[in-house]
Amino acid sequence: MKTALITGANKGIGYEVARQLASKGFHVFVGARNAKAGRKAAEEMGKKCGKATFLEIDVADNDSVKKAAREFSNSEDHLDVLVNNAGVVVDGDEAILEISDDLFRKTLETNTLGALRVTRAFVPLLRKSKAPRVINVSSGSGQLTGGADGWAPAYSISKSALNGVTSQLAAALPKFAVNSVCPGWVRTDMGGKNANRSVEEGADTIAWLATEAPQELTGKFLRDRKEIAW
Ligand SMILES: NC(=O)c1ccc[n+]([C@@H]2O[C@H](COP(=O)([O-])OP(=O)(O)OC[C@H]3O[C@@H](n4cnc5c(N)ncnc54)[C@H](OP(=O)(O)O)[C@@H]3O)[C@@H](O)[C@H]2O)c1
Repeated sequence: MKTALITGANKGIGYEVARQLASKGFHVFVGARNAKAGRKAAEEMGKKCGKATFLEIDVADNDSVKKAAREFSNSEDHLDVLVNNAGVVVDGDEAILEISDDLFRKTLETNTLGALRVTRAFVPLLRKSKAPRVINVSSGSGQLTGGADGWAPAYSISKSALNGVTSQLAAALPKFAVNSVCPGWVRTDMGGKNANRSVEEGADTIAWLATEAPQELTGKFLRDRKEIAW
């Protein structure tokens, strides 16, 4: 059975990606830092769609990430798909010159370093897959091409840096497919009610990269199943 770990899967886009992969026959690990919410999400998914197991993981905490990898390896001998989905927006309309070091660090800790440290911890298990895939959930706000619009600078920079992590990991892991995805503007707690996409639409390219996309497709930034500029 194929296995997938999705971080921040207790709600939003992560939940929907996990739900879609469980429906496609994956044994899905619902990663969440909040044990109550994570367990509830995994139970719901298990009842409706397939095999889902809660895995406690706070991507901003190295010890938690290492513990999660140990726990995962107690029941599974390999991981096929890792979706680094967990993310935070700590800033809003503050200008780049007004954000504090602390806010910047908090944002990078989760959105950029978080994805790297989870990948590092799970690489030994991913190496045991026949076709390992890592998907980093990024954002068009981190796109450098075309210039910034000034919204949420710390968040946007953390996603530009996440794209850098994707590119470096793709070079370091030639047998893997490692890509960044912009899900579009999606109706979640983060995206808000006015966003123009449903979670199903937001999850589509991520689930596609996890399943049907060619294994040779790596080191790219995608939206709507197509490559976009960094
Ligand atoms: N929604 C959009 O329009 C949009 C657009 C572009 C990119 N994205 C990206 O898509 C991803 C998912 O966002 P979303 O819209 O689904 O947001 P969301 O509904 O706010 O969900 C974010 C998820 O990340 C989790 N999380 C945050 N910090 C974490 C940590 N340190 N460890 C583990 N989990 C953590 C949250 O857990 P808690 O429930 O415990 O807080 C939650 O499960 C994010 O990376 C986001 O940047 C979203």
